[in-house]
Amino acid sequence: MSRPLAYAKRSFDAVIVGGGGAGLRAALTLAEANLKVALISKVFPTRSHTVSAQGGITAALGNVDADNWHWHMYDTVKGSDYLGDQDAIEFMCRNAPSAVYELEHMGLPFSRLETGKNAGKIYQRPFGGQSKNFGGEQAVRTCAAADRTGHALLHTLYQRNIAARTQFFDEFFALDLIRNDEGTVTGVLALEIETGEPWLFEARTTLLATGGACRIFRHSTHAHINTGDGLGMVLRAGLPLEDMEFWQFHPTGIPEVGSLITEGVRGEGGYLINKDGERFMPRYAPNAQDLASRDVVSRAIAQEILAGRGCGEQGDYVLLKIDHIGADTIKERLPGIRELSMQFAGVDPCVAPMPVTPTAHYMMGGIPTNLHGQVVAPVRHGPEEPVPGLYAVGECACVSVHGANRLGGNSLLDLVVFGRAAGQHMLEYLRENPIPQATAQDKVDAALARLARWDAPRGSERVATLRTDMQRILQAHCGVYRRDDLIRAGIEKLTEVEARLEGAYIEDRSRYFNTARLEALELENLLPIARATLVAALARTESRGAHAREDFPERDDAHWLRHSLYTRDGDGLDYKPVRLKPLTVATFQPKARTY
Ligand code: FUM
Repeated sequence: MSRPLAYAKRSFDAVIVGGGGAGLRAALTLAEANLKVALISKVFPTRSHTVSAQGGITAALGNVDADNWHWHMYDTVKGSDYLGDQDAIEFMCRNAPSAVYELEHMGLPFSRLETGKNAGKIYQRPFGGQSKNFGGEQAVRTCAAADRTGHALLHTLYQRNIAARTQFFDEFFALDLIRNDEGTVTGVLALEIETGEPWLFEARTTLLATGGACRIFRHSTHAHINTGDGLGMVLRAGLPLEDMEFWQFHPTGIPEVGSLITEGVRGEGGYLINKDGERFMPRYAPNAQDLASRDVVSRAIAQEILAGRGCGEQGDYVLLKIDHIGADTIKERLPGIRELSMQFAGVDPCVAPMPVTPTAHYMMGGIPTNLHGQVVAPVRHGPEEPVPGLYAVGECACVSVHGANRLGGNSLLDLVVFGRAAGQHMLEYLRENPIPQATAQDKVDAALARLARWDAPRGSERVATLRTDMQRILQAHCGVYRRDDLIRAGIEKLTEVEARLEGAYIEDRSRYFNTARLEALELENLLPIARATLVAALARTESRGAHAREDFPERDDAHWLRHSLYTRDGDGLDYKPVRLKPLTVATFQPKARTY
C-alpha cells in the first residue's frame, strides 16, 4: 500500500497524549473549565498502564499514626539519594493529602480502616522507605484500594472525564510533535489505528502523558504498550531527556513473566527468604529490613543470587513469604496478588511462598519539566526555559521528584499532583495565548514520511527480532549492576541493532488495525531511549540510587550531584544542578543513606 499524504485535521484548545492517570487528571481540569480537550490514547484509556499500579498512593493523612507531609518529604529526598529536586518534592508531598481527598470525593473506592478511632477513614499501609519523624520508625502512609489502587484511580478519573466531556480518541497512536520555527509546539500528528489514517491534532497546548519505557528491558513489570512514545517524540524534536541512567528494578516481579507482586505484600507483613529459608534482609538493611527502599532490596536479592543462595534449578530467584498473615487477610487485602501468583507462578500465597526476582519497573528520568508540567530545555546552551505550548506529566516526565530512586506509592501521587498542576497552568497559558499559531507544514510532511517509510519494501530484518535483541542487551548490560566494560559492550551491540533497523521490514502492509506497523513505530521510539540509557549510565562514574556501578561503588556528590541531559544529536550529554532549595522549608543536606 503506498500512503497518500492526505490526513484528517481537527483543532482543540488542548491535546493530551496518553489516557493514564496523569493525562486524565490534567484533561479533567481543562474539560471542567469548558475547554475543548482531545485525549488521544493508543489503547482504550482504562487499559492504560496506571491500571496495574497495585499497592497504593502515598500521602501523610495520619489515619493510622501521627504523620506529617514534611516527614514524607524527607523520606522522598533520602529515597531519591539526594538527586530529587527539593522544591518539586516539597510541592508533591505538601499537596498529597488534598490530591488524595479529591480522589476520594470523586468516588475512588479506597479500602477503609475497620478499627480504631479512625475506623471508616481511608486505609493506609506501610511501604518501603517511609519513616516517621525524619528517619525514625516505619510510617504507615500509603493509601490503598486493596491491591488494585491504580485500577480504581484510573476508572474514577475516566468516568469524571466522560462527565466533563473530554473528547476521547481511543486507539490513536501519536507519531510526532509538530513544532514551528519559533519552537512553539502546535499539536501532534497521530495515526488512527483502526483505519490507518493520519490525523493532525492542532492545539494551543499539548501535554505528553505517555508513561514509561521499561519495554527497553527483557524482563519488566510494564505493559507491552509502555514503549516511551512521548520520549521518542521529544528526542526527534531535538529536545533533551533527563537522568536516563536511572531505572528502578522492583524487587518482586514474577520471574520470566515480569508481573508485579506489590510491595504491599511486605507492607502487610511479608518477607523475603533465600534457598536456605533464611530471612536475609536484616543483613542488608538492619532497621527497615524488607521495607528498605527498592534499590537496596533489589541489590540484596541480586547479591543473594550471586552468592549461590537463589532458589530453583537456575538459582535465579528468591521467595516472598506471606502465608503467616492468614488466608482471610490475604484474600481481603491482596486478592489481585493471590490471583497473579496462582496464574503465573502456580503458587497460592496463602499456603506457600512466591518466587520473585528484581524486574524493571520504573523510569526515574524522562522529559524535563518544571513544577507546572511545562517541558523545559536549554536555549542555545543558556539556561533552560519552557518550550512554548508543551507539557509533560507522569512517568514520561522528569520534574524530578524521584531523583535516583523512587519510593513506592509516589508514582500514583506524582500523576495526580502534577497532572492537576499542569492542567491549572495550561488554563493560564491558554488565557494568555488565545491565538493559535500556524502549523509548520514541513514538520507534518516529515512525520508523514516517517510513517510512509514502513510501506516501502526494505531489507529482511524482522522488527520483533530487533526488539528482542535490544531488550536482551539492556537487560544484560545495564541491569541492577553496571560496569564500564559491560556498558561499552552494550553500546557497541546496540549500535549494530540500530544499523539493522534500516533494513527492517513489516510483512503486513495493510491499512486497518496494522499492529505490525505499530510495533515498528514503537521500536523507533524504544531504540533511542535504550541508547540514551547506556550513554548516560556509562558517563556517570558513581553509584547513586538505582544506578549501581561495580567499578564506582560510592556516591560522589562532589562530581555527580547533578542531573544529566541527553540529546540525540551526536549522543550529546550535558548536566544541570540539582535544585536543593525547597519552596519553604530548609534543605535536606545530602548525607550517607542507610536503612
Ligand atoms: O509495589 C507496588 O505496589 C508498586 C507501587 C509503586 O510502584 O508505586
